[in-house]
Amino acid sequence: MGLNELVYWKPPKDVARLKVAEPFKIKSIEPIRQTTRAYRRRILQRARYNLFNVSSRDIFLDFLTDSGTGAMSQSQWAALQQGDESYAGSVSFDLLRDTVRDLFGFKHVLPSHQGRSAELVLMSHFISKKGLVVPGNLHFDTTGAHIEFQGGVIKEFPDRRIADLDDFSLFKGDIDLKRFAPYMEKNHRKIPLVVLTATCNSGGGQPVSLANVAAVGKICRKHRIPLFIDSARIIENAYFIKTYEPGYSRKSIRTILREFLSHADGAIMSAKKDGLVNIGGFIATNNEEYYENFRRYTILFDGFITYGGLAGRDLAAIAVGLREATDLDYLRYRISQAAYLATRLWQAGVRVVLPPGGHAVYIDARAFCPHLPVGQYPGHALTLALYLESGIRSCEIGTLLRGRDPQTGEDRTKGLDLLRLAIPRRVYSYNQLDYVIDAILKLKKNAHTIRGVKFVREAPFLRHFTSEFALI
Ligand code: F0G
Repeated sequence: MGLNELVYWKPPKDVARLKVAEPFKIKSIEPIRQTTRAYRRRILQRARYNLFNVSSRDIFLDFLTDSGTGAMSQSQWAALQQGDESYAGSVSFDLLRDTVRDLFGFKHVLPSHQGRSAELVLMSHFISKKGLVVPGNLHFDTTGAHIEFQGGVIKEFPDRRIADLDDFSLFKGDIDLKRFAPYMEKNHRKIPLVVLTATCNSGGGQPVSLANVAAVGKICRKHRIPLFIDSARIIENAYFIKTYEPGYSRKSIRTILREFLSHADGAIMSAKKDGLVNIGGFIATNNEEYYENFRRYTILFDGFITYGGLAGRDLAAIAVGLREATDLDYLRYRISQAAYLATRLWQAGVRVVLPPGGHAVYIDARAFCPHLPVGQYPGHALTLALYLESGIRSCEIGTLLRGRDPQTGEDRTKGLDLLRLAIPRRVYSYNQLDYVIDAILKLKKNAHTIRGVKFVREAPFLRHFTSEFALI
């Protein structure tokens, strides 16, 4: 957006009014149990201080991710029963394809078993030789890993305000056009595609404005470079546009989605987020040549083109989930949970990413643990302390996740060290969010006792998943 049109988030005076009553009732429950601190201390030791190694049996509230952890609706469960398991020409595929055509405006749809397999297909096609550069706002870690896996190079142009927690501008997920445009001018020959991630997960779940995607699309077209949208949370992004971007308040979510994606040549999606399912994804485009090649890779990696590594019933559940995710009552409830959690923590003096993003709340771990140097991974250390304190699982989005620069071998310490509380969709109540707030505020009082971590074994690839640590 142009600087003059910036809109700012205003903290609400009465935070309790952020609570939006759930537009559903509970039909089936899954028991969870709290453990003791002594028990969790042993669990942490056994898990070698990596929360990915902890059994969900030993987690009270799980905010590790919003990916594949949501609750499906009765309509989705009914759709599962009607899933068509034919190897080729599944009717459930037709349902998914028609839904994506309608909501996204792309003719060709290829299922994939989750977001990263769509990324594999995309990058296998576009990164045809070493050294090609893939720009974006901020790539999610799996996207970045797939770019590098094919020999490509990551180049990111996040809005400068994204790392400024005191800047309440909305749409901090935008690409910084001032840097992006001249870069494209100079380097377009070595750029096979641009990937824009909406909302921008690695940047605090901040949305991308329609004005920005339009401008990015125009620059890409000028240089004949395809633009793909990482659409994992595109429906939540559309809700932000409707709520905050001038001129969109009366437009429907579907209209906004269609307009947003009309500036792109295609989309990849992890349906485990805004698809409201536990597994699945897809890749979609109108371009015949890309489709031809994507088909080849889909068959190679994920199976026949009408199932893409999924059961027919999964395809049916995604089709229903995508439509449910565009429901305004659902979106209002969904986005209000993150807003409530972030605003209450902030009002109690915890530094969090603001404005609140769509799917998660991000706590500034360097500010929470000022005694910990970046080399002791304060974000990761804070996730361990929160688990020990309360049985709550969260994850680090920071130096540990970013990994090492392949050129220098050094940790990528530029950027923030955050603890992310990702909120599963349609799963936790406001009472459970209040429990999280109480736990964090209690931890804050004893923050000086939080211990840093060091590697005992560092995994070479996407290291946060499988590395082992010790407390310092
Ligand atoms: N793109 C974005 C923006 C994501 O957030 C994710 C996953 C992916 C792609 C990959 O999708 O997991 O289905 O292969 N994000 C999860 C998270 C893992 O916790 O944020 P996937």
